[in-house]
Amino acid sequence: MTSTPVVPAALLTSAEVAAWYEASDELCKMISGDSFHYGLWQPGDLDEPLPARQLATRAQNRMTDFFCDLLAIEPGEHLLDVGCGHGSPALHAAHERRIQVTGCSISQAQLTEAARRATAAGMADRVRFGLGDAMDLPHETGSFDAVWALDSFPHLNDPVKGLRELARTARPGASMLVTFYTQRVPATDAELTMCRDAFAFCPLPTHDQVLGQIRAAGLTLEQTHDLSEHIAPTCQAYGRIYQDNRALIAEKFGTPYADTMDTALADTLTFLTDKTGYLACLLRHPAHS
Ligand SMILES: C[S@@+](CC[C@H](N)C(=O)[O-])C[C@H]1O[C@@H](n2cnc3c(N)ncnc32)[C@H](O)[C@@H]1O
Repeated sequence: MTSTPVVPAALLTSAEVAAWYEASDELCKMISGDSFHYGLWQPGDLDEPLPARQLATRAQNRMTDFFCDLLAIEPGEHLLDVGCGHGSPALHAAHERRIQVTGCSISQAQLTEAARRATAAGMADRVRFGLGDAMDLPHETGSFDAVWALDSFPHLNDPVKGLRELARTARPGASMLVTFYTQRVPATDAELTMCRDAFAFCPLPTHDQVLGQIRAAGLTLEQTHDLSEHIAPTCQAYGRIYQDNRALIAEKFGTPYADTMDTALADTLTFLTDKTGYLACLLRHPAHS
């Protein structure tokens, strides 16, 4: 019997990540909350008799609030949201903190949905979305009071370039908040390949490699928050949301697709829970301090 050689997980281009998001847009909505970053969970949250999507969205909004607190963003200020997804973190922050937000993403499907949500929330005048690659941002130098990238860095093939771009767009003295997915336990090539295929992630760095990327970008690390304990409940909620939508997924994409997803999603969520970490880093450009 011949064994299939395992190909090490390759770096993805932004075009490949964008194509993955365009193709997976509908599915992403059916396995996450309103946002697509990890939630901040409190004991007993998952025992509440509410739909899993509602529980996930509430925990995600709590995490968004925590990130706003870390950035200490003030009413009237302008935040750049790099990798804005369907716009919910931007809209939540704009509503709660009375700020302006510009969101960017490489996925046109996400931007269309984000603009729809902004209009529905009556906030299209101060929350705007447009195309933009984190590693080559279209925004002017020094034009934002704060910048964040929530769960978009796992997709970047050159995180140092991404960090430098975030710093370039921030005004002197501004803070930046970036979340990183890490290898908490060393991952095999097969697991990294699974993450690339399931979620379009580039190979995940270790905690020390993240610190090296921040140093290489010339940024000062002001605070690190290890939020890894919130991965497991988020993955549990995603698994439940998937089950709630499974019949719809089978109807839309076909039963063989849903059968494959049953195993692929479960394996990937188990990997994220057992072997990865979640870091939120508050950063500052030393030249701007
Ligand atoms: C896991 S989702 C998180 C979305 C959003 N930040 C949230 O918390 O709901 C990752 C986001 O990063 C975006 N992304 C991936 N690669 C990117 C790149 N090179 N430049 C800009 N955005 C990117 C994706 O399109 C998606 O919006």
